[in-house]
Amino acid sequence: MHANIYFLFSLACFTLLFNALYVSGIGPQPQGLSLNCGSENGGTDGDGRKWESDVKYITGNHPHARAQYQDSSIASEVPYMDARIFTSEATYNLPITEKTRYWLRLSFYPSEYSGLNISDSYFSVVAGGITLLNNFSASITAQALTQAYLIKEYSLAPMNSQILNVTFKPADKPEAFAFINAIELVPIPDLFGSGTMVGFSDQTFDATDGNLQTMYRLNVAGQYISPTKDSGNLTRTWYNDAPYLFSAATGVNLQSNESFEVRYGELAESVAPPDVYRTARSMGYNKDLNMKFNLTWLFQADANFTYVVRLHFCEFQLSKVNQKVFNVYINNQTAQADTNAADIIGWTGEKGVPTYKDYAVFVKDREGDEEIRVDLHPSTYSKPEFYDASLNGIEIFKMSDRNNSLAGHNPVLSEMLASHMAKASRKAFKTDSKAVMGTVGGFGALLFAVVCVAVYQRTRRIPGFDSHTSTWLPVYGNSHTVSKSSISGKSSQSSHLSTLAQGLCRHFTLPEMQRATKNFDESYVIGVGGFGKVYKGVIDQATKVAIKRSNPQSEQGVNEFMTEIEMLSKLRHKHLVSLIGFCDEDGEMCLVYDYMALGTMREHLYNTKKPRLSWKQRLEVCIGAARGLHYLHTGAKYTIIHRDVKSTNILLDENWVAKVSDFGLSKTGPDMDKGHVSTVVKGSFGYLDPEYFRRQQLTEKSDVYSFGVVLFEALCGRPALNPSLPKEQVSLADWARHCQKKGIIEDIIDPHIKGKITPECLKKFAETADKCVAESGPERPNMGDVLWNLEFSLQLQDNPEGSNHRSQGEESETSEESIRNRNLEMHRNNLSLGSISEVSGGSEDSGDIFSQIVNPKGR
Ligand SMILES: *[C@@H]1O[C@H](CO)[C@@H](O)[C@H](O)[C@H]1NC(C)=O
Ligand SMILES: *[C@@H]1O[C@H](CO)[C@@H](O)[C@H](O)[C@H]1NC(C)=O
Ligand SMILES: *[C@@H]1O[C@H](CO)[C@@H](O)[C@H](O)[C@H]1NC(C)=O
Ligand SMILES: *[C@@H]1O[C@H](CO)[C@@H](O)[C@H](O)[C@H]1NC(C)=O
Ligand SMILES: *[C@@H]1O[C@H](CO)[C@@H](O)[C@H](O)[C@H]1NC(C)=O
Ligand SMILES: *[C@@H]1O[C@H](CO)[C@@H](O)[C@H](O)[C@H]1NC(C)=O
Ligand SMILES: *[C@@H]1O[C@H](CO)[C@@H](O)[C@H](O)[C@H]1NC(C)=O
Ligand SMILES: *[C@@H]1O[C@H](CO)[C@@H](O)[C@H](O)[C@H]1NC(C)=O
Ligand SMILES: *[C@@H]1O[C@H](CO)[C@@H](O)[C@H](O)[C@H]1NC(C)=O
Ligand SMILES: *[C@@H]1O[C@H](CO)[C@@H](O)[C@H](O)[C@H]1NC(C)=O
Repeated sequence: MHANIYFLFSLACFTLLFNALYVSGIGPQPQGLSLNCGSENGGTDGDGRKWESDVKYITGNHPHARAQYQDSSIASEVPYMDARIFTSEATYNLPITEKTRYWLRLSFYPSEYSGLNISDSYFSVVAGGITLLNNFSASITAQALTQAYLIKEYSLAPMNSQILNVTFKPADKPEAFAFINAIELVPIPDLFGSGTMVGFSDQTFDATDGNLQTMYRLNVAGQYISPTKDSGNLTRTWYNDAPYLFSAATGVNLQSNESFEVRYGELAESVAPPDVYRTARSMGYNKDLNMKFNLTWLFQADANFTYVVRLHFCEFQLSKVNQKVFNVYINNQTAQADTNAADIIGWTGEKGVPTYKDYAVFVKDREGDEEIRVDLHPSTYSKPEFYDASLNGIEIFKMSDRNNSLAGHNPVLSEMLASHMAKASRKAFKTDSKAVMGTVGGFGALLFAVVCVAVYQRTRRIPGFDSHTSTWLPVYGNSHTVSKSSISGKSSQSSHLSTLAQGLCRHFTLPEMQRATKNFDESYVIGVGGFGKVYKGVIDQATKVAIKRSNPQSEQGVNEFMTEIEMLSKLRHKHLVSLIGFCDEDGEMCLVYDYMALGTMREHLYNTKKPRLSWKQRLEVCIGAARGLHYLHTGAKYTIIHRDVKSTNILLDENWVAKVSDFGLSKTGPDMDKGHVSTVVKGSFGYLDPEYFRRQQLTEKSDVYSFGVVLFEALCGRPALNPSLPKEQVSLADWARHCQKKGIIEDIIDPHIKGKITPECLKKFAETADKCVAESGPERPNMGDVLWNLEFSLQLQDNPEGSNHRSQGEESETSEESIRNRNLEMHRNNLSLGSISEVSGGSEDSGDIFSQIVNPKGR
């Protein structure tokens, strides 16, 4: 009897102990796996991560191959250069731990492999009974995405097995083959649960046991987060959301202050890294405006699937319930509204605590319906204090369908992209003597060469690389200048991917261009640039546009043409000129832009019959341009260096809003180690960074230098170079620096504005401009700091004593707004105390906060 009780007791103890050990993770730890497929010994990648060979996980003998060309976007040979090739069905048996969820990531580099034609590769992949890919062509998919390689990420439900079988099967064609470059298995916590089905208030979904594919993962209003910086060792990649914003207004970026700590509370930190919660996009501070629009994101999706849309929220400014309450709509159906409207503090209880909400939506197969649309709009139902909405992060996952499939269709390449690729590859074969560029590698390389984005570390102190280019992330699927009906060619039934090619840019015919410009009548010419003449014109009966017509003979013209299409179609920002479309027909190449009614900034500064800008207008124009450049440098997925910043490349729309134009020279070139791009010197004299000129190394600080010259132009009302002046005064940058050093900057102020600048404002402005044109790059502030200081100058102009009095001419504010402005002003004062004096030393973050909140009307 005693013995029995003792036995039971110890059994209970053992069970408890075992459970405790197991639950606390001391028990068997699930292991991850990184396979460099086709390699002999694995290797170490650029991040220092170790990869092993796939040989021991696969039965049978399957050939391996080595890519003949390393695309410039591939920073490390491991694991992309080796591939395993399958000419018949083959299965990997991968060890897994039971009852554990995993990421399965498959990497494909559709390059040239000897003896193989990559366009013949069509195959399916089945993992643990789930069809991941079917009739998949990595080569078509990569072309449509203009990416050199692809990573597909799946989240596989816990299984009752210690082996995961991943089967590759070539399509049913004699020449078809399958290939794979890398396989990753990463054990992850149970990230998925249940939520509501939007549009069906009584229906819920449960993804706990679901198999999902990651479609999008965005750090809203924040920076790219590399796998090594993800939380919980989940090695996810987070991208900026700007390319998916669809609303006419992009809202404002909110950034928490430096001392802000995300307190996870009940939420596991693995849900999302703190940086996701430290930034948010809100609508802005103007209640009336906010009521008139939705903050909208738009995503392309494969039809006939249910998607889980996960919205991440964290409030870091407000702290009370019913201060900010908003409605959430997904695909035009209500997810949260009225009594059930979103109130972040209402959900979390306090400021600084993150949360997320999951919604499911079924995407139907109807024309124009293959998309996921997320709308936020202020709720007035409970009469909240502010009419605003905000969001910190978005993830979208595709759920497997009833047939246990996650496979979509291959994208349809638009005619436009296909013809450009064909041209590009012909040229590549002609001109590249080494002929290293293979069919697809060549496409990828060429496109990347012209896409002109600088892929390099922003924080150069940390060695290694963040590969920005690889992704499962489909496409930039938005644009408000595009109307679906205008897309050329056949409707792209099957996929999101072709939108990149077709959707982002409208394709005009040559007759349309001729009609718009009266057959390129000379009287329509509004400017001449390196690329060719710029005409004004009218399309669609009423829309005014500017049409840049290239000189077809110029080789440089072709590249710049592609550059601008690639760059501008992906970049949307209030302070960047929008590309509407292009025409490429009979050797005629035209780019069609929004018409900037008020012309260039320079036309309003000097040598002009037009009315000159007031000082305040000049400040506002400079601030707008600085915002545009700041976005180019930091807001996009890549750092983009403009390379030709000057007052004639800053245009003004009918409302005096400044927009940066002319990306024809924008340059990329991944040079990860050195953090710069070596290149042939281009740009305009008078604005050229002397360091760039000397060393032919391009960094974003070269733009800062040129922008400094623009600031002095605005202040002094004279050209960057004026050869008719005495020698020491010819170069504005040199002369202004000299005067600033001597403390006589006032003597060279434009007479038209002299006396209208408050001394505090002048001091700040001149100091800022002077720092921009510092001799060496590292001494110059970054654009974030420049923006910060310009906004501060404007503040000092309006309000030299820092009191709350506002200058006349400002529109009166609603009471909510003024309360908020006061709050923000206090906040700003708190923030700025320490850092005003150190222009270039100030951290970028504080600059961002400042720029976000100081100008509440900035949107
Ligand atoms: C590869 O195959 C495609 C069609 O399957 C063909 O058009 C192309 O010419 C082939 N490329 C080479 C290099 O053989
Ligand atoms: C995985 O494949 C092996 C042989 O390749 C087979 O014996 C096993 O049953 C498969 N397991 C599952 C879960 O399909
Ligand atoms: C992440 O991995 C490191 C090293 O493998 C380990 O020390 C750490 O505990 C892990 N963190 C989490 C949250 O699992
Ligand atoms: C930063 O935010 C925290 C928490 O919201 C607040 O306590 C702190 O005062 C703020 N710091 C500054 C410098 O404004
Ligand atoms: C979606 O399902 C419908 C009905 O089953 C089918 O007709 C249609 O082709 C499917 N669409 C796609 C894109 O698979
Ligand atoms: C949502 O509404 C917009 C505007 O009315 C429309 O263009 C879009 O097609 C709708 N989307 C869906 C998924 O119904
Ligand atoms: C916001 O989106 C919802 C759902 O799509 C729509 O009903 C509403 O009209 C939109 N509001 C505005 C102001 O666009
Ligand atoms: C499942 O597969 C069957 C036969 O292959 C097909 O008819 C059906 O449309 C598929 N269902 C879904 C939801 O794709
Ligand atoms: C496979 O994909 C290609 C390209 O998208 C398509 O042309 C072909 O019809 C597909 N084949 C099957 C069997 O679905
Ligand atoms: C600014 O600082 C003062 C005193 O240090 C503090 O009372 C106030 O709450 C702060 N304001 C904000 C918005 O952080």
